[in-house]
Amino acid sequence: MEKFYTTTAIDYVNGAPHIGHAYEKILTDVIYRHFTQRCEDTYFLTGTDEHGIKIQKTSAAQGMTPKELCDMNANKFKDAWKALGVEYSQFIRTTDDEHEKIVQKIFKKLVEQGDIYKNSYTGLYCQGCEAFLSEKDLTEDGLCPDHLKKPEVVSEENYFFKLTKYKDAIIKHIKTNPDFIIPSFRANEVLNQLENIEDISVSRAKSNVTWGVPVLGDDDQVIYVWIDALSNYITALGYDPDGSSEKFNKYWPAEVQVIGKDILKFHSIYWLAILMALDLPLPKHILAHGWITIDQTKMSKSLGNVISPTSVLEAFNLDCPDPLRYYMASAAPCGKDGNYSDEDFKEKVNAHLANSMGNLLNRTLSMLVKYFEGDIKPEFKVKSELFDKALETVKAVKHHFDYFEVQEAAQKIIELVDVTNKYVTDNAPWTLAKEGQMDKCGEVLTTVLEVMCVISSLIYPYCPNIAKAMAEQLSYNLNTKLDDVNCDNIKVGHLIDKENIKPVFLRMDSELADKSKK
Ligand code: MSP
Repeated sequence: MEKFYTTTAIDYVNGAPHIGHAYEKILTDVIYRHFTQRCEDTYFLTGTDEHGIKIQKTSAAQGMTPKELCDMNANKFKDAWKALGVEYSQFIRTTDDEHEKIVQKIFKKLVEQGDIYKNSYTGLYCQGCEAFLSEKDLTEDGLCPDHLKKPEVVSEENYFFKLTKYKDAIIKHIKTNPDFIIPSFRANEVLNQLENIEDISVSRAKSNVTWGVPVLGDDDQVIYVWIDALSNYITALGYDPDGSSEKFNKYWPAEVQVIGKDILKFHSIYWLAILMALDLPLPKHILAHGWITIDQTKMSKSLGNVISPTSVLEAFNLDCPDPLRYYMASAAPCGKDGNYSDEDFKEKVNAHLANSMGNLLNRTLSMLVKYFEGDIKPEFKVKSELFDKALETVKAVKHHFDYFEVQEAAQKIIELVDVTNKYVTDNAPWTLAKEGQMDKCGEVLTTVLEVMCVISSLIYPYCPNIAKAMAEQLSYNLNTKLDDVNCDNIKVGHLIDKENIKPVFLRMDSELADKSKK
């Protein structure tokens, strides 16, 4: 793979980021960082979705202009991603001038080529979805199933996109590319939705919505959020119907577009149709992740259980985001729902990162200093069966990431940590030292340190700071590409002094969980 382009959904800015938004960004960042270990050229796009009636209404209620609200909240998203170590290449805002200009051009092109037409329409509009729903989408009580609110009856003259024209091509694409939608069990859901699709409204009357990108040459209409929002994935790179940038030609199509299961329909149907109409290549994969609940309950403002990701870092007094990243990235099997709970968070990261992984490195280095003054002797460097297990794990982790199975890959890494701990227990280097079998003792310690180099590479996408601290103590080059990872990194000579051995991760104090801060 020469290049790797990945994107997240762009978040609505009518509020601050919560742990569900954070889940997606962390998941994508972990995928992105893993592929930076496999590719020379990678690009990661995230951002915010800033137009639409919700922003218009929220800003009015808060006595602000829509742009003021967007500026304020977009910064909260940026700050949160910084605190979580989400290292995107670009943050797009749909209010960026360049984005707006290109969206207008895309719309114009689609009108000119007959893919967009004007029609009058009466429909059921859900503000939460920013979409028209059909009767059969609603619950028995006539409510939107996602927002549990009654949609409004809206009558307007709108522009429509000829979605039906692309129906057969989309069905064919999904059927002939079984790994286009990940997890594959969601493909059937999409194929069912495709059965009944109709052309979709892609503009709103200015009399109802003012906060949107104006339609060029039609003063009465603004472009409706989805065509504006979905286009961000290409406008960010410099797509232009009149001639795109080098960057666009280099990175598009995306390898994987990460989104939540609730917006899969928009990404696997509407987005594909727009790309087909623009005659552009389609993304290789759409990864639809599940939803995060809090203590097994859906997050909602009315229940007061919405958790901000930065408040978790504060409440647990964490000076680095790695534990939360690790916990969130391994919160759910690929595509399934997951859960956040304070107790589980603490328990899992204490067990995996502090007790198993951090402690393993710490006690091995401490023994190396105690028995050998921190030196690796030539006779310690032997091959071990454990190396096979370590290199098999690298392969298995790569394989899981090929299918974006981030939790499953993490399990493999922890399995390797466990096997290595067992190797230490079975070989008891402290007993070997007591018995004077010093070469054997040195062999065991060196073997473990070699495997710890592999582990630091593998854990890096989840825990970049911990991985760096590990690599530093091992004098290991963390920039090693995964294809080049081997078990021959620990050099003969002096490795470390006592004062440079530092715990890479301390157990989280159980007293620090302060729910009131969240
Ligand atoms: N603005 C649209 C996306 C446009 S993409 C071209 C949107 N915004 S959102 O703020 O409502 O959601 C942003 C992302 O966060 C979506 O992928 C959504 O699925 C995800 N999540 C929102 N709440 C979530 C959880 N509780 N759990 C996991 N992800 C969730 O939709």
